Amino acid sequence: MEPLINWKELQFARLGRPAGGPGGAVDWSAMAAMYARMAEMEAEHTTYQVDAFPTDAADTVLDIGCGPGRISIPMARRAARVTAMDSASGMLDACRANVAAAGLDNVDYLQLDWHEAVAGENVPLHDIVICSRTVALSQLERLSEFARKRVAVVMWANAPSIPPILDRIFEGAQDPQNSMRGHGSPDRRLAYNVLYNIVYDLGFEPNVVVVPDGFTRTFATPEEEYDYLRVLRPMLPGAQAEAAFRTNVDHFTTTNPDGSVTFLVTTRSVVLWWDVHPASYEEVWPTHAH
Ligand SMILES: C[S@@+](CC[C@H](N)C(=O)[O-])C[C@H]1O[C@@H](n2cnc3c(N)ncnc32)[C@H](O)[C@@H]1O
Repeated sequence: MEPLINWKELQFARLGRPAGGPGGAVDWSAMAAMYARMAEMEAEHTTYQVDAFPTDAADTVLDIGCGPGRISIPMARRAARVTAMDSASGMLDACRANVAAAGLDNVDYLQLDWHEAVAGENVPLHDIVICSRTVALSQLERLSEFARKRVAVVMWANAPSIPPILDRIFEGAQDPQNSMRGHGSPDRRLAYNVLYNIVYDLGFEPNVVVVPDGFTRTFATPEEEYDYLRVLRPMLPGAQAEAAFRTNVDHFTTTNPDGSVTFLVTTRSVVLWWDVHPASYEEVWPTHAH
């Protein structure tokens, strides 16, 4: 059935039209260490995202654009096997290291660009397909081809993503050219409502679960905290930049009774998930079928 509203065009209005092929200007491998540290600080809140949709212990999972394994790791604890797929070798190396550190051995790695993925050919079908904060969000119509049971996508829910959070922490401490201010700045009119409608018009019954999100970690001392966070962005040299950085970090820090300090930045995510074989109207309401 033809959609009444062209949601796809509205999605392009927000994200820009996808290039349609592999490649791109972003060197993701160069960002693997930063993303790994952010994933570590998000681990507690990531639980809300993976708890938002059903998973069976026997399920296989495909995590598209897995990064350092933020989602792959908790899914590997819930499911039988996970395929962690990413185009960036540096991200897969970080993912491998994190999976090993978590003591898991049920993750397979696939270095492949999403644009070159063909369901059932170079990527086998999996029970659950996950796409979190990555390129496949602009091709929702393709995701279901890779799933036997269910698709789950994760996005920011009209709340800051990682780049603006880092901009805040490094305000006055980084070369302004490194600032990604404006990146992902929320426009409520073109947010997950658009993705919901695209999925709906594809014939599915999408579920929307908005969850609290955040980055947190407790450190023995403030110095330990500064050292952990300082490496997330290249900083300007000098005492002035260091002072600005410390003031920003202190803003998100509380001191605990035992003298340790807890860093916490809060944000919000949304999980949009759907079964790829939804029951038809007649199957839901069999007694009235003629
Ligand atoms: C913002 S990170 C998200 C990582 C992870 N999914 C998460 O939610 O934390 C985006 C990831 O998508 C990967 N990626 C970007 N373009 C891709 C493509 N065309 N094919 C496969 N992976 C891609 C990047 O290498 C990076 O690991």
